[in-house]
Amino acid sequence: MDTNRRQFLARSSLASLLLTSGRCLPLVAAESDDASAGDADNPSPFLLGNFAPVHDELTIERLEVVGQLPKGLGGMYVRTGPNPQFPPRGRYHWFDGDGMLHGVLLRDGAASYRNRWVRTAGFEKERAAGKALWTGLAEPPDMAKMFGGEPLFKNAGNTALVWHDRRLLTLWEGGPPHEIHVPDLETVGVLDYGRRLRHPFTAHPKVDAETGEMMFFGYSAMAPVVHYSLVNAAGELASTVPIKLRRSVMMHDFAVTARHSIFMELPATFNLGRMAKGEPLLKYEPDLGSRFGILPRHGKATEIRWFEAPACFVFHTLNAWDDGDEVVLVACRLSEYPDIVGTSPVKRAAAGSPNDMPIDTPASLYEWRFNLATGEVRERALDDLRSDFPRVNDRRLGRPTRYGYTMALDMHALVKYDLERGTSTRHDFGPGRYAGEGVFVAAPDAKQEDDGWLVTYVFDAADEKSELVVIDASEFASAPVARVRIPARIPFGFHGIWLGDEQLGEQRV
Ligand SMILES: [Fe+2]
Repeated sequence: MDTNRRQFLARSSLASLLLTSGRCLPLVAAESDDASAGDADNPSPFLLGNFAPVHDELTIERLEVVGQLPKGLGGMYVRTGPNPQFPPRGRYHWFDGDGMLHGVLLRDGAASYRNRWVRTAGFEKERAAGKALWTGLAEPPDMAKMFGGEPLFKNAGNTALVWHDRRLLTLWEGGPPHEIHVPDLETVGVLDYGRRLRHPFTAHPKVDAETGEMMFFGYSAMAPVVHYSLVNAAGELASTVPIKLRRSVMMHDFAVTARHSIFMELPATFNLGRMAKGEPLLKYEPDLGSRFGILPRHGKATEIRWFEAPACFVFHTLNAWDDGDEVVLVACRLSEYPDIVGTSPVKRAAAGSPNDMPIDTPASLYEWRFNLATGEVRERALDDLRSDFPRVNDRRLGRPTRYGYTMALDMHALVKYDLERGTSTRHDFGPGRYAGEGVFVAAPDAKQEDDGWLVTYVFDAADEKSELVVIDASEFASAPVARVRIPARIPFGFHGIWLGDEQLGEQRV
């Protein structure tokens, strides 16, 4: 196992979602000369290699385990991602594919695997028709849909997962969440909090492990506003606060501290007028700079404080916390917005294998400090390694964290950051082995913040099969403590979650 421990430099990601609302619009210009991803001679790179969808829903018991599953590791790892049911209508965008859940259940030392599509209304309609009915983000919307009273884009339920109020939800930032039953991964249906949810639901809500509250937001390509909502520990949508922005921007994630919520108004802008002229709806405009809005968790919209900062883009935050007068934010910062469509011939040629990430994403770990007393902003790079999909010990979300975990964007390593000491440790998977986001699982008897494991799916190009890999988080560079071999291929996806036995046992439905 290659290891590497080095000082960070003093500077952070990738894929997620550009979806905006049930009324969202295409993110690239309709006149692009890229060939259709539906064209078999020139397919999207996101339909090739291990980005390609699988078509069978499997249930496989008694999986082979290499190594020893830790005694304290009982529960289920579930990861979601795009897995289109049918060939696309026109060009394919990585974020378009129907959500598919891949889960490994660890119980009494035995492991089993299952994968299931998320049964959204759009999925079922297309299944009945036997073909794709919706266009994706890379194509102009089918306006006939709107006139027929249907959403312009299909809620794919494909981006991330959250556990709150004894429910597992799969998320898509353009629309409401879908509730999932575990461990069978069957779709229960849309959750709208008794019709109180009136705005899109980010793929990255934040659950405060101490208070039981869940904070989330929804943004719009149509209006310069973000709606910030809070679901209390009893599962009631308790408040929604509309926050005015200077312009409509893409906002994939946010952050919370014990006292504040942090919103990122970054210059990836939506402009309907621009689109009417045949230009892209979404455009990165660095001249506009960045603004970070800090709002007391239970505050009114008028209480938000805005802090100006140099232009950048952020898909994912690692964590944030209060430090005296300062609010500290650590996130994976991009120096520019990436070509997410990834259909450029240049980008495709640059990828050495169809399994390689075809997007060039200049993201690396970065820290901002916002001083609430003086208004000062200080920012610095923490590393120059390209990485994203940051995670922490979720018990520490919103509180000071010493350790953070990211995925190297070449997908061949996970990285553990010691933010206190300014060092990092790599866990390399070796050539031909591709990791996904690493999810931290706290040990039941944890005393230190990093007492636990990182779990991730690894795709091995040699046999085109996947594994659930378990790494001891406190011995990060060491060989995995266990590898659960899955006699199937798990396509690359987005975000995952660990559900312990206690959560599985308390499920609401
Ligand atoms: Fe994301």
